[in-house]
Amino acid sequence: MGITNWNTELLPYEQAVDEIVLKLKSVRRDFLRRQQHSPIEQVEGRVKSISSIIAKANDRNIPIDDALNVLEDIAGIRIICRFVEDIEKVVNIIRARDGFDMKILQEEDYVTNTKKSGYRSYHITIGYKIVYEDEIMPLKCELQIRTLAMNFWATIEHSLRYKYDGHLPEHLKERLHNCAEAAFKLDNEMTTIRGELLQAQKTKQTQEFLVNEIVKNIHNLYAYGKVEHLNDYNRQFMEIFRDGDVNKLSEFNHQLETMAEIYNVRYV
Ligand code: GTP
Ligand code: MG
Repeated sequence: MGITNWNTELLPYEQAVDEIVLKLKSVRRDFLRRQQHSPIEQVEGRVKSISSIIAKANDRNIPIDDALNVLEDIAGIRIICRFVEDIEKVVNIIRARDGFDMKILQEEDYVTNTKKSGYRSYHITIGYKIVYEDEIMPLKCELQIRTLAMNFWATIEHSLRYKYDGHLPEHLKERLHNCAEAAFKLDNEMTTIRGELLQAQKTKQTQEFLVNEIVKNIHNLYAYGKVEHLNDYNRQFMEIFRDGDVNKLSEFNHQLETMAEIYNVRYV
């Protein structure tokens, strides 16, 4: 048995996690930029701790030297969604990248097939290549896609499981089953008000978009010397902003745009 220098052996996995997290955060940003609901709410990544790697290898009778090659979740990414419906959307986003920068190796649907423990999540194991020390290095990474409610349950259950070394006492198992049931109901309830929530999100995004446009338009008109009464415009803007009516913001922005067109103001 060789001596594993864990700190350097795990560096490529850290790099893979960083890259994938960045890519998935960019997916979220793209949705928001287009003023659409992002099926990705949060992205978290982690490299399995040395102690968890050794423990898992021992449990499975895997020689420690093979652990990094055999275990599929050394690099792990968690994608958290608001709604159950978002999970499928995220899965499709990953599938669309299959063969491009990720290779799907396995999918496990614990959302439809809830585990005995009550655990729900959608797992995708991917092959992912990084460039490390000037060489192409293929790695595996486990993506776990779940709702906020599923994540809440899994996080608590995982801590308790750890506390009892994997052997949860019966009374706790029962409690956790009840909690899993409650999380399931919460997800279903949320689905019923999804439409309203999406609308509220959309209004907020539109408001933010319009405010950005308005301050940009006022600034541009001013920079082109077309707004003598800048203070009046700012005051008018603040009044409409305080009023909170998105339609009025839109009208005001339209006025500014028309003015920019008349004066042929090019954007800076
Ligand atoms: P393991 O990682 O050893 O479980 O490998 P596997 O691929 O055979 O199992 P599975 O796909 O069921 O689980 C992979 C990962 O999902 C685990 O490492 C956990 O992060 C998570 N997971 C699976 N089952 C549970 C569970 O009952 N409770 C919690 N909290 N997490 C779970
Ligand atoms: Mg698995």
